[in-house]
Amino acid sequence: MVRRVAVVGAGSSGLACIKICVDEGLEPVCFESSDDIGGLWNFRETPEPERTSIYRSLVVNTSKEMMCFSDFPMPADYPNFMHNSQLLQYLRLYAEHFDLLRYINFQTTVRSVLQRPDFSLSGQWEVVTINKNGQEERHIFDAVLVCSGHYTHPTLPFKICIPPGWEYKDADAFTGKRVVVVGIGNSGGDIAVEISRSAEKTFLSTRQGAWVMGRMSTNGVPLDIAVIKRINNVLFQLLPKTLVNWVAERALNNKYDHRLYGLKPKHRLMERKPIINDDLPGRILQGAIVMKHNLEGFKDSRVVFEDGTVEENIDAVVFCTGYIGKFPFLPSTLSEGPYEEVTLYKRVFPPSLHPPTLAVMGLFQAKGPIMPTVEMQARWAVKVFLGQSRLPPKEKMLDVIESERRRNMQSYPCPRQAVLQVDYIPYLDFMAGEVGVQPKLLRLFLRDPALWAKVFFGPCTPYQYRLSGPGNWSGARQAIFTQWERVAQPFRTREIPENTSKFGLCSPLMLTFTGTVIIVVLFSKDKIVPTLEAVTEMLNKSTVFLRELWFSLPQNPDM
Ligand SMILES: Cc1cc2nc3c(=O)[nH]c(=O)nc-3n(C[C@H](O)[C@H](O)[C@H](O)COP(=O)(O)OP(=O)(O)OC[C@H]3O[C@@H](n4cnc5c(N)ncnc54)[C@H](O)[C@@H]3O)c2cc1C
Ligand SMILES: NC(=O)c1ccc[n+]([C@@H]2O[C@H](COP(=O)([O-])OP(=O)(O)OC[C@H]3O[C@@H](n4cnc5c(N)ncnc54)[C@H](OP(=O)(O)O)[C@@H]3O)[C@@H](O)[C@H]2O)c1
Repeated sequence: MVRRVAVVGAGSSGLACIKICVDEGLEPVCFESSDDIGGLWNFRETPEPERTSIYRSLVVNTSKEMMCFSDFPMPADYPNFMHNSQLLQYLRLYAEHFDLLRYINFQTTVRSVLQRPDFSLSGQWEVVTINKNGQEERHIFDAVLVCSGHYTHPTLPFKICIPPGWEYKDADAFTGKRVVVVGIGNSGGDIAVEISRSAEKTFLSTRQGAWVMGRMSTNGVPLDIAVIKRINNVLFQLLPKTLVNWVAERALNNKYDHRLYGLKPKHRLMERKPIINDDLPGRILQGAIVMKHNLEGFKDSRVVFEDGTVEENIDAVVFCTGYIGKFPFLPSTLSEGPYEEVTLYKRVFPPSLHPPTLAVMGLFQAKGPIMPTVEMQARWAVKVFLGQSRLPPKEKMLDVIESERRRNMQSYPCPRQAVLQVDYIPYLDFMAGEVGVQPKLLRLFLRDPALWAKVFFGPCTPYQYRLSGPGNWSGARQAIFTQWERVAQPFRTREIPENTSKFGLCSPLMLTFTGTVIIVVLFSKDKIVPTLEAVTEMLNKSTVFLRELWFSLPQNPDM
């Protein structure tokens, strides 16, 4: 019987895990090696070993309505894409609201997590910690939630002693310098842009290139809120992928041609996570960033690229070549994958553990926000710990892991990368199904069509997973109906009266309607009455449905 749960780390994942354990009547004990909550969002001036390091200017690339926890919307006045300090503020509000701090042991590092000798019967773990006085302590737990982050160990393409981008804090040291940034992930893009504002010249070297999208969609609505929708998910599955890629790439290239800008990758747009950067194309346009092929090597101040070009007088090379997830405190037997990675069924459970009393949080990549996904992982993990949700047999889990890896390798040729990828809505829905909280679309359509329209046509915000089932939240429906209000709120710093001519005589809507009537009259003179009757009847029937649809569309942030 699971009662005491160890939570390793008090970043956003650890906080969500503590809260969910408490919700389920469990006793969480969280160990956090630093002196505060927030994990990577708690900016530090100097990088610390085995902790994720961020740069001072970091702004989130997922918007507030999409990335909040499912029963705790972000304050309405928060900007849609906030600075890292404001996300930390949100995490503080969350911890305070749900009274989570009392479960956390700060300045306590988990050194090892080992199965007890009677593990096969008890499922228990021995957790060894070192406290701030350097004293070792041993604790027994019924289950463990690993929330220690996985952007802690930078990968470098060369055996060198140049500090990686991981250590980058700001561009002060690069003023007037000639700098090469290697790697075009979100870190490489952000850091190159920032350095380029004070450096003499910034070169951005990439192996494969990348699709680059801004944070904004049509009408300035946050990109993720405009795209991550159930309706789009259905369309992506139904329509030929080539067509979807062609349309989306065309739209993006209409803004800046990725080939012309030296960005174009080998893969298609929908195959991989694009990088999110509002400024990179502009900096290329201004000549402040120069795109280059992959780095072949460097000696002293001379840098050679794979196409044979050479840049002289380079003062600094900043490697933003990604991370490898490491969990030094876990039993090495859990790193049992063919590529020595921690093998996880549905990115949560090591398949060899029986009983399944350890779960790893956040070790995945998705084209969507991480925080609500981890929250759902925690809800599922706790149900499994309690025996209320069951895992398949080990062989079946291993099969699923390998088949998902093979499928993902069509887009991500690196097997270690491939295994990390999940499809955002299907992944959330899978776990929600296990927990019993997946939105029941047919039932919603019949009982609450207005809500159904928002859930199906609107953004797939985390509140959808609190509408019904275990852990449902009475505020979820209201949170969905007011989500656009919170998107619009931070813009209301200079209120402008609404354009009253929107539905006036010269509005596009009125012109379209008038044009349609004229065409109908011209082409069906003798059938005018029955035609108009049919049209009226159809319009009447559609009115209710259209009204609901209209309220779920992002084009009207005032809704
Ligand atoms: C630069 C950057 C930007 C990102 N931007 C976004 C974004 O905009 N949107 C988004 O959805 N996701 C983003 N992410 C992904 C991000 O990783 C997750 O959103 C999430 O916040 C990670 O939280 P975490 O708690 O899992 O890990 P972390 O925030 O890394 O926290 C881990 C905690 O565990 C502690 N810890 C580690 N080891 C031990 C130990 N042995 N004992 C005790 N404590 C330990 C650490 O001190 C730390 O406090 C970004 C990631 C990076 C690197
Ligand atoms: N603003 C934000 O919110 C923000 C900012 C930064 C980071 N993040 C997040 O933080 C996480 C880590 O991002 P990241 O950019 O640090 O890492 P990343 O996403 O793993 O990107 C690493 C980049 O380095 C390249 N690379 C890897 N190995 C290389 C090699 N040997 N030689 C040349 N290039 C190599 C990769 O290129 P290939 O594609 O060619 O392999 C990739 O473009 C991501 O989840 C990201 O979304 C968010």
